Amino acid sequence: MPTLSPARTPLPRAAAPATETTTGRPARSRRSCTTLSAARRCRACHPLADRGANRTGPNLWGVFDRQVGTLDAYENFSDALKAADFVWTPDTLNAWLADPRGFLEGNEMAIPEAVPENERAPIISFLMIETGAVDWPVPENAFADAQADKSKPPAERFPSFWNHLMTNTSRYRWERGEEELKFDAYFNTDGSIDTSIDGMNGFWHITDKDFFCYALKGMPVDPGNMVECFPIAAMAIPRFAEELWTSRPYDDVSLHGGIVPGRPQQGG
Ligand code: HEC
Repeated sequence: MPTLSPARTPLPRAAAPATETTTGRPARSRRSCTTLSAARRCRACHPLADRGANRTGPNLWGVFDRQVGTLDAYENFSDALKAADFVWTPDTLNAWLADPRGFLEGNEMAIPEAVPENERAPIISFLMIETGAVDWPVPENAFADAQADKSKPPAERFPSFWNHLMTNTSRYRWERGEEELKFDAYFNTDGSIDTSIDGMNGFWHITDKDFFCYALKGMPVDPGNMVECFPIAAMAIPRFAEELWTSRPYDDVSLHGGIVPGRPQQGG
């Protein structure tokens, strides 16, 4: 089980891969976007933003480091939560999501089943970002107005994301057992993707739900292609590091990704 700390919060994991990519187009996968839809389930009952009004459940803004069952503005805490005595941390939240019924016997958070292990770390890191637990601007607040206006081009709606991705190098390390493939990718404003490997390239697009989806083909590893989607809101704060996130484009593959400054001159 991963231990999370604000200092090295992984980004929400990108969606699972499409299985059929012979055309190079992202095929629809029933598993895609699992993590985000899971986080949306929390949102159905919990506002996440600062000063958001409580819904069925308490507002989760600032929940990390908060004593359980104490948010004054929320009047419906069960006795179980009021009587409990601990502070919410990634670990306590992880334990609760792993066992929503048993962790705090008698609680009234009516989620039907445990959140699967592979979704918990991404959900928790997503919540840390969204609820102010980590020290960076909240992407949605920062770009809320521009994001809302879909008639504008992505460069205007998500300027920092756009500039970051389109001018720098995305660095990847593909890992499957002993197999390792390192490559750099260059996302271009025209929707194409070049890479540091001959014959390997791809394309990207932004969905109407503001997911950034991309496909790579001609990869020198099986099955030669991959597709991934991630929510742009989670990527809106430009950061540089060789390995910023890990995703799982295939069940047996860990894909470590990061962004490093600049990119080689064309043809160089
Ligand atoms: C069906 C509505 C519902 C959904 C969905 C839901 N919650 Fe809750 N949540 C509640 C309610 C109601 C409470 C208060 C429970 C109580 O007092 O027993 C609560 C309490 C909490 C608390 C305690 C807050 C505090 O201040 O002590 C946390 C943390 C939390 N939920 C996280 C989550 C996460 C993370 C998800 C998504 C995986 C989620 N919840 C999904 C309804 C929901």
